[in-house]
Amino acid sequence: MRVLLFTGKGGVGKTTTAAATAALAASRGLKTLVLSTDPAHSLADAFAVPLGPEPTAVESGLLAMQVDAQLAFEQSWRDVQDYLRGLLERAGVDALQADELTVLPGAEEVLALLELRRQAASGLYDLVVVDCAPTGETLRLLALPEALTWYVDKVFPAQRRALKAVRPLLSRVATVPEDGLFEAVGRLHAELCEVRALLTAPTTSVRLVLTPEAVVVAEARRTLTSLALYGYRVDGLVANRVLPTSEDPWVAGWAAAQSAQLATVRADAAPLPVLESPYAAGEPVGIEALLAFAETLYGDTDPTALVETGELLAVLRDADGFLLSLSLPLARLEDVDLARSGDELVVTVAGHRRLLALPSALRRCDVAGARLVDGRLVVRFEPDPAQWRQL
Ligand SMILES: Nc1ncnc2c1ncn2[C@@H]1O[C@H](COP(=O)(O)OP(=O)(O)O)[C@@H](O)[C@H]1O
Ligand SMILES: [Mg+2]
Repeated sequence: MRVLLFTGKGGVGKTTTAAATAALAASRGLKTLVLSTDPAHSLADAFAVPLGPEPTAVESGLLAMQVDAQLAFEQSWRDVQDYLRGLLERAGVDALQADELTVLPGAEEVLALLELRRQAASGLYDLVVVDCAPTGETLRLLALPEALTWYVDKVFPAQRRALKAVRPLLSRVATVPEDGLFEAVGRLHAELCEVRALLTAPTTSVRLVLTPEAVVVAEARRTLTSLALYGYRVDGLVANRVLPTSEDPWVAGWAAAQSAQLATVRADAAPLPVLESPYAAGEPVGIEALLAFAETLYGDTDPTALVETGELLAVLRDADGFLLSLSLPLARLEDVDLARSGDELVVTVAGHRRLLALPSALRRCDVAGARLVDGRLVVRFEPDPAQWRQL
């Protein structure tokens, strides 16, 4: 099963492109589901049919749904979140860990991920297209499975031990939380691990939608870096609302500005393809208009074709030790921060942080330096004799 995620800045045409791609794939015989995780719910508007929180048939072989963050779920998740926070405070957790807690997600993101997992696991589809919320929320969503896994692996066992130790004392003053809560968090953890596996599978890719305008392009550049940091494969860009050439000086002015932006995008994205979609005379709404949109965009090519990209994360060996190489396209050295924390490498790029669990060979090495080369962060690890001798 193929999974395609569409993201980008608000209003650039994510929903339109996602819906059009799904419609074209379905018309070519793939059993397709398009699922929107954006609370703005414009998928129904794009198809001009009512949609709900369960898959609804739009065309033969094409189903669509909008994930609905139910209030009940939101409430129960908030309880878990409040409880965990309280627990950490009582246990006097240090600042770094408390800071990590802020990555605990909102209900909508969790629900959207679990719903994606449920639909993907149904085995009913050849293709699942995800119409994501604007970039910021999407990055939070995509960072979530790994961040929460880290949290449950590292912080949670300590809290659980701490709670066990103080239970006799606590029971006199307060109701001690049930073990059921721990089980619930454990289950959520397992499910999010599956979501992460689904999102980072070799058959999953992200497509970035943009309009050729300076502000949008600047954000798209940062998004390319952040998606790679979190380990997501981007396999193409869509430049939408591209103006035609025109005699009209006003339109011609805009078109010239756009083509300058497009040149930047192509240079930055290379070797990824940048597909173009013209500014239509009207909104591409309804199945006919969406199919026409997709046919212009993809032509005779397969809309689900996965463009081969380099390995996102690789470990190489050389005479002096090891090199860990992480794809970070368009990153600037001044925005990158590295820290070693036990068995993890903490990589921060322009405010986005990833905790990378180090492969075992690297755990007994010291970080000896780092460079940015050809869109990759290359970190040198050298064996620490003291650590190797202990064995
Ligand atoms: N190529 C296009 N030409 C004309 N209108 C477009 C085009 N692409 C999208 N639109 C319109 O622009 C608006 C925003 O598109 P939408 O797909 O909802 O963006 P997003 O999901 O990124 O917020 C919608 O009204 C849509 O119909
Ligand atoms: Mg949308």
